[in-house]
Amino acid sequence: MVRTQIHDEQVLAFVPHPLPPRDPPLEFGAELAGRLSEAETALARLDLAGEMVPAVDGFLYAFVRKEAVLTSQIEGTQATLIDLLEFEAESGGEVDPTDPNIEEICNYVDALAFARKQLAADRGLPLSMRLLNESHKLLMRGVRGADKMPGEVRRSQNWIGGSRPGNAAFVPPPPARLGAALSRLEKFIHRKDSLPPLVRVGLVHVQFETIHPYLDGNGRMGRLLIALLLEHWKLQNQPVLYLSLFFRRHRSEYYRRLAAVRTDGDWEGWLDYFLDGVATIATEAVHSARDLFALVARDRARLLDAVSTSVTVLRLFELLPSNPMVTVSLAMKLTSTSKPTAGRAVQTLAELGILVETTGKKRDRSWVYQKYLDLLRVGTDDPPRTG
Ligand SMILES: Nc1ncnc2c1ncn2[C@@H]1O[C@H](COP(=O)(O)OP(=O)(O)OP(=O)(O)O)[C@@H](O)[C@H]1O
Ligand SMILES: [Mg+2]
Repeated sequence: MVRTQIHDEQVLAFVPHPLPPRDPPLEFGAELAGRLSEAETALARLDLAGEMVPAVDGFLYAFVRKEAVLTSQIEGTQATLIDLLEFEAESGGEVDPTDPNIEEICNYVDALAFARKQLAADRGLPLSMRLLNESHKLLMRGVRGADKMPGEVRRSQNWIGGSRPGNAAFVPPPPARLGAALSRLEKFIHRKDSLPPLVRVGLVHVQFETIHPYLDGNGRMGRLLIALLLEHWKLQNQPVLYLSLFFRRHRSEYYRRLAAVRTDGDWEGWLDYFLDGVATIATEAVHSARDLFALVARDRARLLDAVSTSVTVLRLFELLPSNPMVTVSLAMKLTSTSKPTAGRAVQTLAELGILVETTGKKRDRSWVYQKYLDLLRVGTDDPPRTG
């Protein structure tokens, strides 16, 4: 703890010891080892499920958006998966969102895509604070983030919970200590270490949240970092683990476990929670992937049997997993056909009950792949539980 001044108050700020936990070291008993192996197995299964899928793009598209919605909901963003898809279908990727709720979710999708591209490129940024800062800039784009120093590590003291620093749940390190704490975290990420990579991912997340480097967006950046590390350390090939569903489902426990690392050095309790989350969500995602593919296979078979099926209809159908909501103009663009042809293709899919019209209007109508969406959105519309 170090003394720090916030406005006219003197409070104690917390400066974490560098990773890994020492003194005492991690107590990796049989129970945690069991949790770890369950989590690793479930993750490996999810990876396999992803690889066996014919429409890999659709799978990635869907699960990345699910995570984007969930991670933003933890912060309190009021928008659903349907809202996001609606926006994407109608904008065709050509206009920026005007609704700040949708904007936040789109920003997360962009920040993740940016970071993955950098990491994959020969001359891209390595996993570093520079990379995270650039991603943070994208995450904080727009109205809500403008005054939160997008892309920059904070230069002022902040606090978590409470109305003022004096009654805060937690006061993160003073700005003068951030540089050193963050460069140690980078070093830990790049150092060879005997701890299992999945455990290291869990440690890094807590450390990142405890350092709280930004004025806002620390939770979302810390969760994005989990996705990047899982891929970087080859625990998954694509960012399809929507772990935020677990954090959201057990939100107060999420905060409590983070806090207990700091107050009681309870790394083991956090890891138990974190590894349980990875195992639970990976298993749910495998089931969800299986259900999604079974549905697509069933509908494809029905489509091939139907007399009215044309090449355009089939092409449009195959694109639905990456575009579960369409308008006629989007269908036109996706299949590169004329408006009447695209319109007929949409109509055919609607007659077969694959697409369902959502607006009830005569013009500007949109259709969703309803059953697909119903499967995909499981968990994203539930009110967050406390506990
Ligand atoms: N007691 C705590 N100790 C350490 N970190 C905490 C604690 N309580 C909450 N956090 C972390 O801080 C995050 C909130 O910080 P911040 O508002 O900067 O992030 P955000 O992305 O805007 O919000 P959110 O994470 O709620 O979506 C939480 O999500 C959690 O990860
Ligand atoms: Mg916030």
